[in-house]
Amino acid sequence: MSLKNRKIIVGITGGIAAYKTPGLIRLLKKDGAEVQAVMTDAATKFITELTIETVSQRPVAREMFPKTRYVATHHIDLAEWADIFVVAPATANFVGKIASGICDDLLTTVICATKSPVMISPSMNSNMYLNPITQNNLKKLKSLGYIILDPNVGEMACETYGPGRMPEPHEIHQFVRQFFEKKKSLSKKKVLVTAGPCREPIDPVRFISNRSSGKMGFALALAAHNAGAEVTLISGPTSLAPEPGIELINVETTEQMHKAVQREFKKSHILIMAAAPADFKAGKIAGEKIKKAQRKSLSLSLSTTIDILEGLKKTKKKGQVVVGFALETDNALKNARAKLKSKDLDLIIVNSLKDGAPFDSDSNKVTLVGRTGRAESLPQMSKRELAEIIVTKISKLK
Ligand SMILES: Cc1cc2nc3c(=O)[nH]c(=O)nc-3n(C[C@H](O)[C@H](O)[C@H](O)COP(=O)(O)O)c2cc1C
Repeated sequence: MSLKNRKIIVGITGGIAAYKTPGLIRLLKKDGAEVQAVMTDAATKFITELTIETVSQRPVAREMFPKTRYVATHHIDLAEWADIFVVAPATANFVGKIASGICDDLLTTVICATKSPVMISPSMNSNMYLNPITQNNLKKLKSLGYIILDPNVGEMACETYGPGRMPEPHEIHQFVRQFFEKKKSLSKKKVLVTAGPCREPIDPVRFISNRSSGKMGFALALAAHNAGAEVTLISGPTSLAPEPGIELINVETTEQMHKAVQREFKKSHILIMAAAPADFKAGKIAGEKIKKAQRKSLSLSLSTTIDILEGLKKTKKKGQVVVGFALETDNALKNARAKLKSKDLDLIIVNSLKDGAPFDSDSNKVTLVGRTGRAESLPQMSKRELAEIIVTKISKLK
């Protein structure tokens, strides 16, 4: 497999290793890729635009506000054009700016605007690389899904020895190839994910709900999509939007979610129930808004909602994988193991409120419990990282 027709933006920043980047561009082009270079001003001190234009056979993009060739939204066009970004070399300055959302030149702006994968090759003096600020920035970028190529250890241009050397062009070329060749672990699989809270109406303007934000479910849908699956996401009301390519079915009540899951589950290989359906609903929904005037108190009679997972047990076919979540305040593992058994789940992800509430947070700390009952506790991590771990685990269950 070659890089034929792959559109690659090579970002070049002001590091001494920029002298190696023409070699990288040549290898990518020889392998069939279209390469567009974006340079920072500092990069042009190390390597000329003329050299880069000659090897990439395209004009270099550098200025945010060019006097000629001005296209108003060229930063967005570039962001959408690329299948992947490769920033080599990436300076400590660039890493810090991307990690902080700073967009003060064309390269940082385009990268902020892209949804394509971004590969970063940090290259700098060892002290700069090992500086805790740089390390924290790299850690943050990793947790957000940026691909960080660890630098090589060796002699630096400043005659010191240590980590910080940009890998050789042929090594970076291989990383790019491997990225595209990586076998998608869920290709040809249909994955159904539920996310978010459900709302149970009390009257035309009020409802019962819970604190779920939907972030975990949306992260799982994205991870399954990235693993090559055809993903349908059934979501209660949230403020989130799925990536293009993920089918979204909006629902409001637990009953609506139940019906959508029953319909879609038949067509799915894998179901991940990350939603937080409402457990209770109003015994009677008032047809008109319940008036506050002249009331000192109000009693609501509640009844339990339908148990979505319970209903699926009967329809689950051999080979279908069902994954559930449990949010427990006490006896987390014991209760989760019981739920795993009673709902015939293949994997359960346990949130214990003792580890802090996961609601609306971008990170989570969970324990995974498989069919054997063995528990695997994971450290606190971003929901995006966690989603990738869960999806990898699921891909091995099928
Ligand atoms: C000779 C020289 C070599 C440099 N090499 C590096 C380097 O390898 N890595 C790095 O992070 N910064 C290096 N710098 C510092 C950057 O060029 C500087 O931080 C600059 O502001 C980076 O701008 P940019 O990130 O917009 O390209 C070097 C500076 C000089 C003068």
